[in-house]
Amino acid sequence: MCGIIGYVQATGEQASATAAASDGGLTQATGEIIHEGLRNLEYRGYDSVGVALVGDVSGLTVSKQSGEVDGLDIPAIGDATHGIGHTRWSTHGPPTDSNAHPHTDCGGDVAVVHNGIIENYEELKQELSAHEFTSDTDTEVIPHLIEEELAADPDADLLAAVRRVETRLEGSYAICAVREDDDRIIVARRGSPLVLGHGDHTAFVASDVTAFLEHTREVTYLEDGDVAALEAGDVSVYHDGDVVDRGSETVTWEADAAEKGGYEHYMRKEIHEQPEALRQTLAGRLDVDAGNVDLDVSFPPGFLADLEEIRIVACGTSYYAGRYAAQLFEELAGVRASVEIASEYEFGAGRTPDRTLVVAVTQSGETADTLGAIRRAKDAGARTFAVTNTLGSTVTREVDGTAFIRAGPEIGVAATKTFASQVATLAMLAVAVGRDRGALAASDARSVLEDLQGLPGAVQQVLDEEPQVREAAQAYQDSEAFFFVGRALGVPVALEGALKLKEISYDHAEGFAAGELKHGPLALVTPDTPVLAVLTDRSRGRETMNNVTEAQTRGAPALGCVSEDTEYDTLDVSFDVPDVGTVEPLVANVYLQLFAYHVANEKGRSIDKPRNLAKSVTVE
Ligand code: AGP
Repeated sequence: MCGIIGYVQATGEQASATAAASDGGLTQATGEIIHEGLRNLEYRGYDSVGVALVGDVSGLTVSKQSGEVDGLDIPAIGDATHGIGHTRWSTHGPPTDSNAHPHTDCGGDVAVVHNGIIENYEELKQELSAHEFTSDTDTEVIPHLIEEELAADPDADLLAAVRRVETRLEGSYAICAVREDDDRIIVARRGSPLVLGHGDHTAFVASDVTAFLEHTREVTYLEDGDVAALEAGDVSVYHDGDVVDRGSETVTWEADAAEKGGYEHYMRKEIHEQPEALRQTLAGRLDVDAGNVDLDVSFPPGFLADLEEIRIVACGTSYYAGRYAAQLFEELAGVRASVEIASEYEFGAGRTPDRTLVVAVTQSGETADTLGAIRRAKDAGARTFAVTNTLGSTVTREVDGTAFIRAGPEIGVAATKTFASQVATLAMLAVAVGRDRGALAASDARSVLEDLQGLPGAVQQVLDEEPQVREAAQAYQDSEAFFFVGRALGVPVALEGALKLKEISYDHAEGFAAGELKHGPLALVTPDTPVLAVLTDRSRGRETMNNVTEAQTRGAPALGCVSEDTEYDTLDVSFDVPDVGTVEPLVANVYLQLFAYHVANEKGRSIDKPRNLAKSVTVE
């Protein structure tokens, strides 16, 4: 996710007076405070950075570039009374100097930074055809819209202009805007967090409190639809044009905890970020009524119609996302689909290269095994594609096309939100391919897209059940081993659930197709080996329950993720899964993530950095 910091201090003469009155030390310069705030936001992950400073005499000055915060030149503006800064995690447009924020209007009088996605930016950009654009970003439409509002009504000020522009934007955003000859920072929040900080004759705004915690702990969290005006020592918040009082609270976290949003570990924070991450993944890509998807990708004319096979290459959690997707490609796109462990992949015999699509699923885009597989596919003449979380990553430069999962940076070594966003992106790709091939009727596509639309809310419902999961984890944490079972789309989720547990708790855990239990693994089942089962209706839950019963008759405890309208009363623990059809198993996975987290946490494991593992495995 991008990072935002804004700071306003006493106006020029006040600042000089403060500086003179202080004990000889100058108040920290505005640019220095903003640069410091950007350093505090680096943990969020980014690929480019920039600032805009405003001074009574110097006017508006922008400095921005792709690269590190420490490498950014902060303009030496002695009279800067306020400014905004931004770390960019690219979603639209590669990480380049011109795509870095802030973005300005044609005249360079207004500067804007933004976190989120403007879903209707292409339509707005067409309405702004008289304006000169210098970037590929969705964000850049905002300063030009502000410019139009200011030109249309000379009496309008920056606050009025932002209010009017805000009503034209669709999507999720946190916006900060500054203007030459205006002492304020104007901010707007819808779907992407913004928090205000209250200092002594100063005010802050940021994506999270980490940015300014060393300066103030008195904060106000803005709500969706809020617009605020920050000036030295005074902050006004508006909602639907009326002044509102959002109150304030004192942050007790330390900076380290603040980076984790108050959670003890990044992994738990990222598990809880899944609703927001999934909203970003889906934003602007679903046309539910028409049963269509827009992933902003294209294939050669006729390629998809002639497609013989989709082969997915991936590792670890991404491999399990691929296994989920392969079933969806066959079901929705009517094309043969298989998944290969990247390190084992060879193009093989009996295939037509120019009618085979090889898809790399890799959140980092840097996994050596997956890159090796894609290179072998290319050498064989196959068309290649990537599904990744990381713009500018190696895999994006080696394939013919890429779809980004937009989950935001994932710090914990154990993949959590990226798994959900990978599957959601691959599900959209399956719909898009199915519709292009004429294999999927609009009505059937609509049903899948409605399931996807319900995904963020369903995941939130599961997250709200965390206390029940923690209780189960505490009850079974000392088990000898853990078995995860499922059928159909429940199988990749069972495999992923086992991986999640083993990689952070170091306990033995094994996932497999439920029907396989009686073909060997049942020999391992004892009263000390709980079985966790994906029992959702759409993944053959009833048949799976028969297999679970086989384990129960050998004394094993059984925990099940069950469709909310179904009940299996012999289960020791039953977790309700909201009804979201095709993606119910994906929602069930959130229970398994939480279970793994709490078992490991009860054992005091190094959850974010488990032993022997790396976040991106760049060696084969
Ligand atoms: C999963 O929790 C692990 N971090 C690991 O299996 C990971 O999924 C695998 O290394 C693939 O990483 P990638 O998605 O970046 O290619």
